[in-house]
Amino acid sequence: MVAEVLDALKPGPGGRYADGTIGGAGHAVSVLNASSPTGWLYGCDRDGAAVEAARVRLAEFAGRFEIRQGNFAELAGWIPAASCDGVLLDLGVSSPQLDSPGRGFSFQHDGPLDMRMDMRQSLTAADLVNGLSAGELAEIFWGFGGERDARRLARAVVHDRQRQKFETTGQLADWLERLLPRRGKKTHPATKIFQALRIAVNGEIGFLKLGLAAAVKILKPGGRLAVITFHSLEDRAVKDFGRAGARDYAPAGEVDVPELRAPRAPELRWVTRKAIKPGEVELRENPRGRSAQLRVLEKM
Ligand SMILES: C[S@@+](CC[C@H](N)C(=O)[O-])C[C@H]1O[C@@H](n2cnc3c(N)ncnc32)[C@H](O)[C@@H]1O
Repeated sequence: MVAEVLDALKPGPGGRYADGTIGGAGHAVSVLNASSPTGWLYGCDRDGAAVEAARVRLAEFAGRFEIRQGNFAELAGWIPAASCDGVLLDLGVSSPQLDSPGRGFSFQHDGPLDMRMDMRQSLTAADLVNGLSAGELAEIFWGFGGERDARRLARAVVHDRQRQKFETTGQLADWLERLLPRRGKKTHPATKIFQALRIAVNGEIGFLKLGLAAAVKILKPGGRLAVITFHSLEDRAVKDFGRAGARDYAPAGEVDVPELRAPRAPELRWVTRKAIKPGEVELRENPRGRSAQLRVLEKM
C-alpha cells in the first residue's frame, strides 16, 4: 500500500519520518524518494536480517537515514520526542520471513518450529507447543487465532507430545491437517494455529500497544501515524488506541461513567473515518496483502 501510505504521510523535503517495521525497505525507499533531497528517515525492525537487507537497499540514500535492529515499542528511547512528521508501522511478517523455511513461520515449507522475528530472543514456537499447559495453549489458539477447536486441539497437543515432541513446521501442519478436516474450505487447516503461535511467540499485541504510544511521543503536532494491520486483533488495538486518543475527555477509571469524565483536549484525530484497503491492481500483484488495512491518525 505504498501509494496510500505516501498519501497519508505526505513526505516532503526537510521532513523527518520513522519506519518502525523497515523490513525490505520498500516503504522506506518511497518515503526517502518523496522527501528528496533533504528528508530524513529513522528505521528499525526486530529482525536483524531485515535491517541488514534494508541497509543495502538504502545505500543510495546514505547520509539521510539511521536504522537499527530494535522493537518499535522502543522508538521513543532513541528518536527525539516531537521530532517526526510521519511514522509508519506496517505490521505482521515480511515475505522474506515467510519464505525462509529456516525461520519456521510458514506451514508451506518444512523447517524448525521457530517463528522468532528477533533471533536474539530465546523463546520459540516449539517451546510454547511442547511446554505450555492445555489451558494456556487453548487460550493462545482461541485468543490469537480464533480457532474454534482450540480446547480440543490443545488437549490433543499435550497428549501427543508425550510420545513425540513437535519440532518442525511440517510435522505440526500435517498433524493439524489430520485433526481438522477441511470441510471444503480453501485455507489450510493450520492457518489459524500458525498465526496464533506467531503472535504469542513475538508478543505482538502487547508490543503494538506500546509501539502506538511510542509513535505518538515522537510525532510533532500535526504529524501523522499510518498503521497497516493484517488481522482483526491488530486492527482492534489500533482502533481502540485511536478512539481513546481522539476523545475530548478522560474516563475517571476502568469503567467510563459519563458524569465522572474529566474534559481535556483530544491528543489525536482520525484522518480517515474508515480503514483504507488495497486496490484491485495491488491485490493482483500481491495477493498476500488481501487482508491489509491502513488506518491514519494525526497528532493534535
Ligand atoms: C510487513 S513487514 C514490513 C515490510 C516493509 N514495510 C517493506 O516495505 O518492506 C513487517 C516487518 O515488521 C517487523 N516487525 C514486526 N513487529 C515488530 C516490532 N514490534 N518491532 C519492530 N519490527 C517489527 C517484522 O520483523 C517484519 O520485518
